[in-house]
Amino acid sequence: MNKIVQNTNHKRVAVLLSFLANTTSCDTLFDRPPPGTIDNTAPVDLSVLPNDFMWGAGSSAHQAEGNDTHSDWWAWENSGKTKSGEISGVAADHWNRFDDDFGLLADLGLDTYRLSLSWARLFPQPGMTEPDPEALAHYDAVFESLARRGIRPMVTLHHFVMPQWLTDGNRWETGEAVEDFKQLAAMAAARWGRYVDWWITVNEAEVFVLHGWFRAIFPPGKFDIGLAMQVMANLMKAHASAYHLIKQLDTVDADGDGDPARVGIAQLAVPYEPFSENDVIEAVLANVFENISNTFWLLANETGILDLRIPFGPSVVEEHAPFKDSIDFIGVNYYSRQIVRLDIIGFIIAPPPGAPVSDLDIEIYPDGLYDALEFLSRYKLPMIITENGIADADDSRRGSFITAHLRELTRFKRDHPEVSVFGYIHWALTDNFEWENGFAPRFGLYAVDYATQKRTMRPSAKTLADLAGQYRTERRRTP
Ligand code: GCO
Repeated sequence: MNKIVQNTNHKRVAVLLSFLANTTSCDTLFDRPPPGTIDNTAPVDLSVLPNDFMWGAGSSAHQAEGNDTHSDWWAWENSGKTKSGEISGVAADHWNRFDDDFGLLADLGLDTYRLSLSWARLFPQPGMTEPDPEALAHYDAVFESLARRGIRPMVTLHHFVMPQWLTDGNRWETGEAVEDFKQLAAMAAARWGRYVDWWITVNEAEVFVLHGWFRAIFPPGKFDIGLAMQVMANLMKAHASAYHLIKQLDTVDADGDGDPARVGIAQLAVPYEPFSENDVIEAVLANVFENISNTFWLLANETGILDLRIPFGPSVVEEHAPFKDSIDFIGVNYYSRQIVRLDIIGFIIAPPPGAPVSDLDIEIYPDGLYDALEFLSRYKLPMIITENGIADADDSRRGSFITAHLRELTRFKRDHPEVSVFGYIHWALTDNFEWENGFAPRFGLYAVDYATQKRTMRPSAKTLADLAGQYRTERRRTP
C-alpha cells in the first residue's frame, strides 16, 4: 500500500485542543533510534519461539488469482481509476497454478499458507442463495491440494475486494452488507471448516475504509468521513456476526490441536512517531494516529462498545454486545513505522530523510515490529505476523529484511516470554497485483515473469527457508 498521507487541512492549534479534549495517554514518544542501515550481525535466537510456530507465506485472491471479473476492483481498474493505470488481468494466474504454487511453498519448508477467498467469484450476482458451483469446486480443490501437502491454510474472508453489486448498492454504507458477509462466512465455515482451523474475518479494516471512503484510491472512491465511520461500524458488526457463525459451523478440528476454529482479524500495525523530538504537536498527532489506527477493534473486543471517535470528525459510539470477546488472535501486518512531520500548512507522513527504503519508498524499520508487538500486547491476545514484506525487485534487501524482522520478533519474545506470538507469514509467496501500484512492486519470495507466468525463486526465499529449517532442527534436538 501507499503509506504516504498528505493533509493540509489540519491546523496545529485545533489539533492540540482536540488532543487535550480527547486523548489521555502520550506514552510512545521520543525513544526511537535514528534511521540507519539494518544491523545484520546479531544472531536470531529461534529458541525463544513456541512449539508449533507457524512459518508461512501469503497472498490474496484478487492480487494473485486473476480474472476476478465480478469484483468492484475489476470495475475500478477497467475504468482507469488506478494510479498505475494497470488492470489485474490474469494477475499471477494463481487460479490455475495454485497447486504448483503450493509446491513452491512446500519447497521452502513452510507449513502455512494465508489466502483469501474471492467473494465476487463465489457470489457474482446479488440475491444468490447458493454460491457459484465453479468457484465452490475451485476452492474445494485448493483446500484439497493444501491438505495433501500438509500445508495449514489461514483463510481471510474479506481482503479489500467486494462483489461489484455490493459496492454498487452502497451496501457497506447502508449496513446491508452485514447480512451479505454473514452468508459468505457461514458458507465458508460449513463447507471448508474440515480443512480450515484459522480464520481471519477482515484484513486491515482501517486501510479498506480509509482508502475507499477518505482517500478515494480504492473503490468506491469516496471522500466522506461520515460514511467512512459508518462503514467501519458496519464492518465491525459483520465481523462479530461472522465470528459467532464460524464458531458454530466449523466444528471439525483439521489439525488435531483440539480447537476447530480460531477467528481473528488482520490489522496494519503501525507505530507512529514524531519527526522532531521537541515538537509537541507532532508528538500529539503521532499519538492520536497511533491510537486511532491501532485500537478501535481491540478496545471494542474488550468492552462490546464500538467507540469510533476521531478528532474533529463525526463519531459512532454504539453498544454492540456480540463484538465483546470476538477476536481470538491478532494478525499483525507489519511493514514500517510512520513519521509525522509538520510543515507550515499541515502535516506529512513520510519516511525520515536518509532512511533505508523499499522500492515503494517505505522505510525499512525492523525495530518497529518490536514496538508494534509491544503496543498490541496490552490487549492480551495471541498474535501472529500475518504480513511482513518488502517491494524489492532486485532482491537486494529482502533477505536482510526477513532476518532483521525475525530478529526483532525473537527479541520481543525473549523480553516478553508470557506473550504469545505464534507464527510468521511473509507477504507474499509470489509477485502479484499491488492495488493502485499495479505490477511494478515485487513482493514475492518467487519472482513472476508475467509474460510467461514462470516462477523463479529469489535468493531471499532461501533466507526464510533456512530460518524455518533451523527452527525445526533445533526443535528436534530439544523437544
Ligand atoms: C495490505 C494488503 C496486501 C498488500 C501488502 C503490500 O496490507 O495492503 O494486505 O494486500 O499487498 O500489504 O503492500
